[in-house]
Amino acid sequence: MKKNNCLKTGVFAIASFLVFNTHAQVLKWTAVANGVWKVSVGKPESYDLLKAADVKPNLAALTKMDKAVFPLPKNDIFVRFQDGKTYLHFPLERKEQIYGFGLNFQTVHQRGRILRLHVDHYGNTDNGRTHAPVPFYVSSNGYGVFINSARYLDVYVGSAVRKDSKNPPELQDRNTDKNWSAQPYSDAVEILVPAQGVEFYVFAGPKPLDAVRRFNLFNGGGCLPPRWGLGFTQRVNRLYTDEDVKKEAQEFEAKEYPLDFIGLEPGWQSKSYPCTFEWDKTRFPDPAKFVQEMSNMGVRINLWTNPYVSPQASIYSKIAPFTASHTVWVGAIPDLSMPQARKILFSQFEKDHINIGVSGYKIDEVDGYDSYLYPDVTTFPSGHSAEQMRQTYGLLVQKYSTEVFHKKNSRTYGLVRASNGGGVSFPYVIYNDNYSHQDFITGLINSGFSGVLWTPEVRASKTSEEWLRRMQTVCFSPMAMINAWASSTKPWSFPDVANDVKELAQLRMQMMPYWYTEFAKYHFEGTPPFRAINLEDGFFQENKKEKVNTSLEENPYEVAIAKEIKDEYMAGEYLLVAPFFAGQTTRKVILPKGKWYDFYTGDYAGDGEVITINSNLGKIPVFVKDGGIIPMMQPMLHAPKAKQKVDLEIRHYGQKNSVSHLYDDDGETFDYEHGLYSWREIKVERQNDGQLKGTISAPEINKPNTIGNVSWKFMTK
Ligand code: GAL
Repeated sequence: MKKNNCLKTGVFAIASFLVFNTHAQVLKWTAVANGVWKVSVGKPESYDLLKAADVKPNLAALTKMDKAVFPLPKNDIFVRFQDGKTYLHFPLERKEQIYGFGLNFQTVHQRGRILRLHVDHYGNTDNGRTHAPVPFYVSSNGYGVFINSARYLDVYVGSAVRKDSKNPPELQDRNTDKNWSAQPYSDAVEILVPAQGVEFYVFAGPKPLDAVRRFNLFNGGGCLPPRWGLGFTQRVNRLYTDEDVKKEAQEFEAKEYPLDFIGLEPGWQSKSYPCTFEWDKTRFPDPAKFVQEMSNMGVRINLWTNPYVSPQASIYSKIAPFTASHTVWVGAIPDLSMPQARKILFSQFEKDHINIGVSGYKIDEVDGYDSYLYPDVTTFPSGHSAEQMRQTYGLLVQKYSTEVFHKKNSRTYGLVRASNGGGVSFPYVIYNDNYSHQDFITGLINSGFSGVLWTPEVRASKTSEEWLRRMQTVCFSPMAMINAWASSTKPWSFPDVANDVKELAQLRMQMMPYWYTEFAKYHFEGTPPFRAINLEDGFFQENKKEKVNTSLEENPYEVAIAKEIKDEYMAGEYLLVAPFFAGQTTRKVILPKGKWYDFYTGDYAGDGEVITINSNLGKIPVFVKDGGIIPMMQPMLHAPKAKQKVDLEIRHYGQKNSVSHLYDDDGETFDYEHGLYSWREIKVERQNDGQLKGTISAPEINKPNTIGNVSWKFMTK
């Protein structure tokens, strides 16, 4: 008897060892692409981020990248099941910094932070609740990790110390050691996935930017907007009529401000919050004629909507069986993970909007807040939980709205308020209702770590200085936009800076060949067009840690942190943008190693140093890398039409010989997916007489060619 009991206990002990012991999970890594490894543990759920996004990796582009070895010590990655959840452990080295975990707005360094990744409207704290809480992180050591889960994940980014830590912190005594820290050094990123298994990926570098590129390419590469998407856009007052909109477009034309698309806000719909998705007959009696007339003026139309279906919408009874148990503003929530719901909603979009020429959408309210969005007790007819739907709704609306445009071979570029891992290739830019100019720049920086695009939109301003400062950053962002839905502002609303705004919008247009090429690199090579300087070669950071206050009484657990760079960013391959905020008269700019030049004058600015610059209200400080090549065109009022030829002025900065590639295609269709594009090689070389000379390769035969005459400008004397 006794013996038997012992045996039972022994068997039980072995079983529990297998189930609960940290090292018992053997991880079987599979190389799924060059420099990308996947592991699947336990029973991963059938619905996850990559399934929702359902995008093919760009394997060919990944194959072209350098071969790489697995970037982490495999034995230091471990998984165990606890409390019905999956615990993941990844190692951290002492000097490593961690970036990413989605669209944060106040922090760039994530090491030491605790987050619950949860799609939500950003609420002024970097706690994981944000528009795109992408479960992907990038290490300064040059690798990335992605957790493919559509759940709210708890993430401890080097904030905790395990008893079995391989590299534990030193024991310190607060009584005697003034370096005692409330947050001792931690050697791990720990993640809790509330499911009994999960799939996750590791991306090799060797540099952090390479890891980001591999992540983006694995998600199909970044989006390639149509050329017009990179022009200027105005969102008009929410209750404008067709005549008001036309008048506004005419004013842009008469005053010579560039304009490529106008966004209509809720009042174009007969009912909004919840929505009918049908035109309001009083404000827009003949939508097809209106959209055509606007198009004749060179201006496209983008429509605001949220996905919540009004009981007064004509599609209501058809879609009702495929909607959730709860409502948002009494509107039904389509279960967009079901083909039936998608078909009904997007056929309506197609019939009433896209077929008459509407160019895109602004899809609002797919993020949060909990107080008005559906709660987690909501059920969906597909059987997906409210949590899974919340994490993926942004992906679903982007994917299936884009498909309608794809069917018509017409590119779109719009706005959305939620996204997630897997959404890299969708042609949407995230925006929100917070209006801190500083946070907007930090958002731009973080977007580049997470495979999303973000716009620091302009709405209203207290002063003309603030107006101009905000306009400057918007013109150096993925979408140059005024959102006047409530403010009714126009670019010329502040007369004393109206001309500066015009010049800025014209500069945006002049730079279109540059922006377009940088987006092509996002698509074909995975390089984010807007990103942190932390991803630059030659980036250096003083590792000095700073304490804010030193009084024990005030904050006995204060932690010293290294300074983060939150006020400058890279725009494309060559430009470093260092915006001024209203009220600032001087600012410091960190220039990574290598020579940098002033964008406007070509003058030398510095090399691997911190410079102080004075404010010049009319200009946003921009610096160009040595050898930087910036293709520019005439400041047109509208983006070049499909296949329209434009003359280029190619600018070169600095002393270096250089080679760069200029992307070209028709600018509007998806024909590039079938090889109808070209890269023209631009070379600048110093001749025997000491002068620089530029050449551009001939156009490829049977490929689109929109490049007219080329002239050269060597900016640095
Ligand atoms: C908000 C959105 C604004 C504007 C407004 C219209 O949710 O963030 O940009 O579109 O709705 O009601």
